[in-house]
Amino acid sequence: MRDAPKVVLVTGGSSGIGKAVCTRLAAEGHLVYGTSRRPQAPSDGYRMVAMDLNDGSTVGQAVAEVLAAEGRIDVVVNNAGLGIQGATEDLTAAQAASLLDTNVLGAHRVCLAVLPHMRERHHGLIINITSLAANFGLPYRGFYSASKAALERYTETLAMEVRPFGIHAVTLQPGEYRSNIGDNRIRPAAVSEPYRPGYQKAMEILGGSLHYSRDPDEVGRLVLRIMAKRNPVGVYYAAHGKQRLAVLLKKVLPAGLFQRLMMKEYR
Ligand SMILES: NC(=O)c1ccc[n+]([C@@H]2O[C@H](COP(=O)([O-])OP(=O)(O)OC[C@H]3O[C@@H](n4cnc5c(N)ncnc54)[C@H](OP(=O)(O)O)[C@@H]3O)[C@@H](O)[C@H]2O)c1
Repeated sequence: MRDAPKVVLVTGGSSGIGKAVCTRLAAEGHLVYGTSRRPQAPSDGYRMVAMDLNDGSTVGQAVAEVLAAEGRIDVVVNNAGLGIQGATEDLTAAQAASLLDTNVLGAHRVCLAVLPHMRERHHGLIINITSLAANFGLPYRGFYSASKAALERYTETLAMEVRPFGIHAVTLQPGEYRSNIGDNRIRPAAVSEPYRPGYQKAMEILGGSLHYSRDPDEVGRLVLRIMAKRNPVGVYYAAHGKQRLAVLLKKVLPAGLFQRLMMKEYR
């Protein structure tokens, strides 16, 4: 049996995982609003509103628009985000700041906009989409791991602070799913000579057919399962095989051994 329809705001509903989450939730009868910096009329049973995570005023406007239309927001999925690639030394502080502004402060701006409403209703669920990359540094994607690790710790704290107000906050860590994330990554202006061979090899491996091939609907289905829980708490994983195993290995292996395994994977 289906749950009662919930009003759900999913940031980044125009592509990849966010689009799959919107489509799945709408198919299950929920009232879904996706967001985009350039919203277009979608055809998959959900509406789109304009939101730029880097601009707090557009975040406030989007939340106000959904509240005006539906009178409530039950669930927020903070999904919108960006990737970054490049040797750490090849990336400028401005590039790193731009990534962190989108992936960490963007989610915070959305929380700032919805929390007063959720506290007032003593009800709400916030699902922050992080990544398996939150658990370890990935070669040539360090700031991505850093941004997702920051969102993990942010959410852990938020969950404890908002629980007395009837609100749950959890994270969902996807492994690799089919999306446009690879095309949209921030990249270094130039790849410096010493890092070139390692960087190129790692990007070649990452672009291979085994990466980013799974159907993002799996993430949509996991979001549904989290929404159905009475007491969602902690971290949820949408990952399989070697990727899921890496999270466990990181917890039990000595640091040196784990790093050697990781470097072998990208060589
Ligand atoms: N795909 C994977 O394998 C994977 C794995 C782990 C975690 N994730 C995480 O999943 C989330 C979705 O990524 P994806 O893989 O689906 O990538 P994607 O296909 O590139 O989609 C990114 C979405 O985020 C939105 N977005 C990006 N920057 C934004 C900004 N500044 N303001 C507002 N919206 C913005 C985009 O909307 P517009 O461009 O239309 O504005 C788009 O809808 C990200 O947080 C990513 O880190 C993905």
